[in-house]
Amino acid sequence: MFYLWRRSQVPVKQPIKISRIDNLIIFLVCILISIISSYKLLLISPLNIADIFSWFLTFTEILISTGVLILVSKKENPTISSRQIFLIITLLLVLQVTKLALASTISPLSMIIPPALIISQGMGSITALAWVSIASLFWPDPDIIINNNLFFILLVCASIVSLLGGRIRSRAQLLQLSIFVPIGSFLSQWILIGKDKMSLFNINKQDFVFANGDIFSDSLLLAIAMLFTILFIPIFESIFGLLTKARLLELADKEKPLIRRLSLEAPGTFEHTLLICGLAEEATRMIGGDIDLIKTGALYHDVGKLHAPNWFIENQDGSKNPHDELDDPIRSAEVLQAHVDEGLKFARKNRLPKLIANFIPEHQGTLKMGYFFQKAKEKNLDINEYYFRYKGPIPQSKETAILMLADGCEAALRAMNINASDKEALNTISNIIYSRIKDGQLDDSNLSKGEIFLIKRAFLNVWKRIRHRRIQYPTSKNNTFS
Ligand SMILES: [Fe+2]
Ligand SMILES: [Fe+2]
Repeated sequence: MFYLWRRSQVPVKQPIKISRIDNLIIFLVCILISIISSYKLLLISPLNIADIFSWFLTFTEILISTGVLILVSKKENPTISSRQIFLIITLLLVLQVTKLALASTISPLSMIIPPALIISQGMGSITALAWVSIASLFWPDPDIIINNNLFFILLVCASIVSLLGGRIRSRAQLLQLSIFVPIGSFLSQWILIGKDKMSLFNINKQDFVFANGDIFSDSLLLAIAMLFTILFIPIFESIFGLLTKARLLELADKEKPLIRRLSLEAPGTFEHTLLICGLAEEATRMIGGDIDLIKTGALYHDVGKLHAPNWFIENQDGSKNPHDELDDPIRSAEVLQAHVDEGLKFARKNRLPKLIANFIPEHQGTLKMGYFFQKAKEKNLDINEYYFRYKGPIPQSKETAILMLADGCEAALRAMNINASDKEALNTISNIIYSRIKDGQLDDSNLSKGEIFLIKRAFLNVWKRIRHRRIQYPTSKNNTFS
């Protein structure tokens, strides 16, 4: 009873599985970070028990912090891969080594802010903030004590970059960020540090002129480091499978060759895709999901139909149906399954990110190809239902589940009578969604009952828009300009 109650309230998402070897390597890197960040505490002579104890405390503190960082990143990105966790901790490792080598010459701003930008772009703001807090708290060299004002400026700038980095939707905005943050840091350092005649660190730099010169060159270095980071973000995207907002929007460009091909070679599928984008976007907005992700995923979900466009009803425009000529339900079912397999091949060839490629098999899940299964039964073929189901997997995220529901409702809504009432439209939507739920297609999607209710409402709103568009406006010869 308790299990059923919990399942009906808050769906429990299966955590992503990371292999044991990956876990071991991640753990070893964390230990390495802790050693690098604390070993200098042991280089005191004479060494007594109190020193060893304080080293052990620092070591454990850093190890636990890196563990918390990984947990935060998993919480923010339920689909995070081990490669992406490697990226987060490797950046931390590189930072700690850089601090050891260059902490007395380079401003901490230039060391911490660029990696924070990469993490916020690829893994989100919360992960970036967690990373920044660890990166700015642990300094391997106990002799270097950062000026309090500089520490404050570092935290403010890094937090701004982390928060904005997760939301920025274009490369142009990234460029603006990489110019305004260094300018802001220069002005704040000049006001808070330069005027006090204080150096950036408490070692040998007491001169006012030098301090100002340092501030300027440090801010310049920060700007250059951020610009280089932006240049290299696309490389990080492909190596670590990061999916930044800018990349999503680039992929959603309808001038992309694959989408252009879809519009030219399979115009019916392209129209179907555009309508699904509208349905899915509205539903995702209602439940607070990732709108950019679903818009791009929807655009590519049926690209596999390019392998044989005229085998799909939406591209046939009244001409002959090749399935009738074939007259073999099993082969027809294979053609339908091929739109998923070929779609995945297109995704690989065009280097689509995994999160986008997931929409291709998951939008069909393990749905039954009812029409051809029925035909097979009519022909008295002794055939297993298995051959008339898509190979799956069923939707593993809310976004892919919404796309499956939108895909199911699209044709029905398009075909619906223009005079149909809202209640009739809602009934049609509910029936289609209920059949998917009953078939177990949404079991892994993490959608709650409340969210499914909101999705139905969203689809209804889009239907109202479609109906409105189809109403012919009365026009006269003299009044056709407005
Ligand atoms: Fe499809
Ligand atoms: Fe579709």
